[in-house]
Amino acid sequence: MPAALPTSRARIVVLLSGTGSLCAALLEATDDPAYPAEVVAVGSDRRAEGLQHATRRGLPTFVCAVGDHPDRAAWDRRLAADIAEYDPDLVVSAGFMKIVGPAVLGAFGGRLINTHPALLPAFPGAHAVRDALAAGVPVTGATVHVVDAGVDTGPVLSQREVAVAPGDDEASLHERIKEVERELLVETVARLVPAVTSRESPR
Ligand code: GRF
Repeated sequence: MPAALPTSRARIVVLLSGTGSLCAALLEATDDPAYPAEVVAVGSDRRAEGLQHATRRGLPTFVCAVGDHPDRAAWDRRLAADIAEYDPDLVVSAGFMKIVGPAVLGAFGGRLINTHPALLPAFPGAHAVRDALAAGVPVTGATVHVVDAGVDTGPVLSQREVAVAPGDDEASLHERIKEVERELLVETVARLVPAVTSRESPR
């Protein structure tokens, strides 16, 4: 007997700043009707290349740039409002290179997750791969964690190791980490769905 398919899938808004290969992996996962979540919109802080993964599929996108706002707090409030328009169960920061503020955390705290290319708490921040190479560690990896007010400090949801190969440079190591990040993100989102869809607020 075929497994019963979920009647409704969790709604995800993805945030990105770059090429969006992590977002693409999530979108591909959602092609399987048994995957328990769907991407309902993709947002960015810039006109990022990665937004094309959504537009190609006819999904809505939005850009909320810090420079278009009088200050960081106004940007944070606008970003929270932009995300809220899509009524997500889960917000996924997949290569989103901005620290969100109290408005976004207030609206989506606990339901906002981030993927990071290191084994947190080791090597937080924007240069995790470079920092791991500079430290000479034999093993680094990927982490999916809940976003809090700090820089890559929120509770860890899942981690996977990646060995540093002799001769690795930042690009080669980051590419191997991203292969692992894509799988880890797809798996972690699926695992989180029951928790984020049990909210009481009616739609
Ligand atoms: C990932 O390694 C993510 O953790 C980091 O930026 C990269 C994004 O890659 N913050 P892509 O744009 O999804 O290809």
